[in-house]
Amino acid sequence: MKYRFCGKSGLQLPVISLGLWHNFGDVDNFTVARDMTLYAFEHGITHFDLADNYGPPPGSAEINFGKILSNDLKNHRDEMLISSKAGHLMWEGVYGDGGSRKHLMASIHQSLKRTGLEYFDIFYSHRYDPQTPLAETVQTLIDIVRQGKALYIGLSKYPAEQAKQACQMMAAQNVPCLVFQDRYHLFNRDPETQVFPTAEKYGAGFVAFSPLAQGLLTDKYLAGIPDTSRAAKNRFLKREQITEDMVKRITCLNRLAWQRGRSLAETALTWVLQHKQVTSVIVGASSVAQLQDNLKAADGKELTPEEINLIEQILKIRD
Ligand SMILES: NC(=O)c1ccc[n+]([C@@H]2O[C@H](COP(=O)([O-])OP(=O)(O)OC[C@H]3O[C@@H](n4cnc5c(N)ncnc54)[C@H](OP(=O)(O)O)[C@@H]3O)[C@@H](O)[C@H]2O)c1
Repeated sequence: MKYRFCGKSGLQLPVISLGLWHNFGDVDNFTVARDMTLYAFEHGITHFDLADNYGPPPGSAEINFGKILSNDLKNHRDEMLISSKAGHLMWEGVYGDGGSRKHLMASIHQSLKRTGLEYFDIFYSHRYDPQTPLAETVQTLIDIVRQGKALYIGLSKYPAEQAKQACQMMAAQNVPCLVFQDRYHLFNRDPETQVFPTAEKYGAGFVAFSPLAQGLLTDKYLAGIPDTSRAAKNRFLKREQITEDMVKRITCLNRLAWQRGRSLAETALTWVLQHKQVTSVIVGASSVAQLQDNLKAADGKELTPEEINLIEQILKIRD
């Protein structure tokens, strides 16, 4: 495993991190979740990314991860980097969502209890809340760090302008924004123009979520929608996203990848990691085999300019 410094901080992240959004809830197979966690840790994935609402049901991913921690990894806490987030709907009523001090403080207390942790390494505002003054959200994050409930602050899915303002406020209080977390993959390049410039200016790192476009950037959907796939569940990845156009592009990307001796997943992750601003990619997985495939990107060869150019050409393919 390779590790990269997160922006200008002294904290190193593995280039591949494991996300627990899917496949760690009570509806999922706990043995598989445990096997993936242990395999990840044994192979140098030190960073595990949670949020209060991961499950389903919401909260259950934190509880299940907490069980794995206390049963199997109890003596390894200081070798691990564990993040959580708050800001999406979590419980009923006006305090169960958003970026207010009331919600963020209650949420982190609940998350610490569910995981059994004394503190999170990184705590994120999960999304910008236009109904709460930005200064209130930022001050709460700073206080969370000062109170020792988290070591570092992260921001997820913040629009460019609010990201910039939040970084200014944090820098003014000497509790800098450690990291931005946003969707970044071959089909979504928004961070390049939105948040990368702010990350660069304020010395923050960047972690890419859904780097495989929820499984689209693998060989999974080349011949239809497998019954057990995320798209078959039709929630976050919709069946209608698997268009003929899309299948054509992923078929060509897959062919190119194999011609160069890589899987498509490995190629897609390598592409993201090749951007100098990216600290880590947070992958999801539903089996140890997927994780094994994805881990190849941690030590693999960089894409050549010619390969990158061919990829760009394929991305332009339309009906
Ligand atoms: N901040 C935010 O708002 C936010 C939002 C989304 C995600 N995240 C974070 O990012 C993490 C990753 O997101 P994601 O799960 O969407 O990431 P992803 O890596 O793009 O997609 C993961 C899914 O792709 C499929 N897959 C993975 N590796 C594969 C392989 N080698 N071959 C074939 N299929 C493969 C699996 O789908 P199947 O289940 O179909 O097998 C897996 O569940 C989350 O767990 C979370 O921590 C954060």
